[in-house]
Amino acid sequence: MYILHVSAECYPAAKVGGLGDVAGALPKYLNKTGATASVVIPHYHNKFFREHSWENVAAGAFYLGTIEYRYNILKERSGMLGFDLFIAEIPGLLDEELPYGYENDMRRHLGFQICVVDWISHQPNKPDVVHCHDHPTGLIPFMMDYCNNYRHLSEIKTVFTIHSAQYQGQFGLDKTYLIPPFDEWKRGMLEWNDMVNPLACAIKCCWRFTTVSPSYLAELRQSALGIEQLITDEQQKSRGILNGIDADVWNAQTDEWIEQTFDAATVTDGKMANKRALCDSFQLNPQLPLIVFIGRLVGDKGGDLLSDALRQTVMRLNREVSFLVLGSGVSEYENALNALKTDLPENFNCYIGYHEKLAHLLYAGADFLLMPSRVEPCGLNQLYALRYGTIPLVRSTGGLKDTVTDIAEPDGFGIRFEQATVASVDVAVERALTLYRNAPEMEKIRKRIMLFDHSWDHAAYVYLELYRSMEG
Ligand code: ADP
Ligand code: GLC
Repeated sequence: MYILHVSAECYPAAKVGGLGDVAGALPKYLNKTGATASVVIPHYHNKFFREHSWENVAAGAFYLGTIEYRYNILKERSGMLGFDLFIAEIPGLLDEELPYGYENDMRRHLGFQICVVDWISHQPNKPDVVHCHDHPTGLIPFMMDYCNNYRHLSEIKTVFTIHSAQYQGQFGLDKTYLIPPFDEWKRGMLEWNDMVNPLACAIKCCWRFTTVSPSYLAELRQSALGIEQLITDEQQKSRGILNGIDADVWNAQTDEWIEQTFDAATVTDGKMANKRALCDSFQLNPQLPLIVFIGRLVGDKGGDLLSDALRQTVMRLNREVSFLVLGSGVSEYENALNALKTDLPENFNCYIGYHEKLAHLLYAGADFLLMPSRVEPCGLNQLYALRYGTIPLVRSTGGLKDTVTDIAEPDGFGIRFEQATVASVDVAVERALTLYRNAPEMEKIRKRIMLFDHSWDHAAYVYLELYRSMEG
């Protein structure tokens, strides 16, 4: 079985968040099961592209409205990723460094999708499954079914994974002329609430759709920025499949980016060495419990709460706790965190920006990881934290609910809270402090969580079953 993943991100070639991690790991684990999986992403002018060598494997052209673009499909030569990585190079359209954030994003996404479908249509050995991820790839199942030039692809099975329904990629109906000519009777498939809605269109047209955790699927039926009813109507083809992690990349025993490697047996000393290195760099006291936040500083992640919550907690708990934040996003939240540095120099520091290597040291050196997310379809941070013996403090939502059990429950190992509020974070941190003071219990939990297996080994088989369930 040959599965082609189509994504805007794929670690280590291009990553903004968890989508990159998933697209860079699931195909590798699918290949370990004996299936053949590869990935195609847009071309980005970034370091990975410059530092790798590429073979031109296909070329073609397509129209986006009245403009003709030529494309090349480049294949990464080294094969070191564990899967074939293809890049769609479209000069004049895909010339940017990053996946998102440009004024012509809609055209970039659309051009990429047309290019991929066109490439597939010319392949002698076509994929058995085209697996699309999030709204930038959401129009592909429609194009494969209803675009005049590509209808011969309609027998190919399509899977669509919703990593986040917070972004649906809508654009005006006046732009449908940019989509290659299609069966006009099917125009309704593109639409939701008087807009072209790529996420909704994918759900309507794909053979199966998945969410990245079971709880998120249940939540989307109640709250999904206007597409709740669609999710409910199409639920017979839905599955909630919890993401896995790449256990080779996230491994405290071999991680070259941390100060000192460790395993469950050496967790206490190992974490202390990493914590010291972190505290040295960020002028924090390594004797205090260290709580970190890593992620996009946006409302969905509770980024707006951080500065107030951390200020209140540090003061109320007599400065007996330290916080370190690694993230970037809304400038208002970034500024508030920078200001907090001046107010609480001994208990708080932050790195505003994206820093892959530093993230590893934070997972390794922290005592606790805070995730006050309002929306968390899966969340990978808490899974990485567990692997490095770091105890998660999470709001009970989406994938966080599916992966973290509170210490008040039998076999619990984390701290959960119900509300994304300053007060709830404060209570959670106080509970964390109580736990931290019980050193034998801390050590017991750390040793246990490091041994959890959240690798893709299991979930890759679940996806494989899903692909097979569509066969004849
Ligand atoms: P999301 O995809 O919604 O951002 P996830 O929890 O699924 O959330 O994944 C986030 C991924 O991005 C993790 O690999 C995390 O370590 C990484 N990450 C987020 N922000 C940063 C940052 N500022 N620097 C380094 N890594 C980051
Ligand atoms: C999205 C979600 C996150 C999830 C990631 C990978 O970005 O916000 O919760 O872990 O995708 O599926």
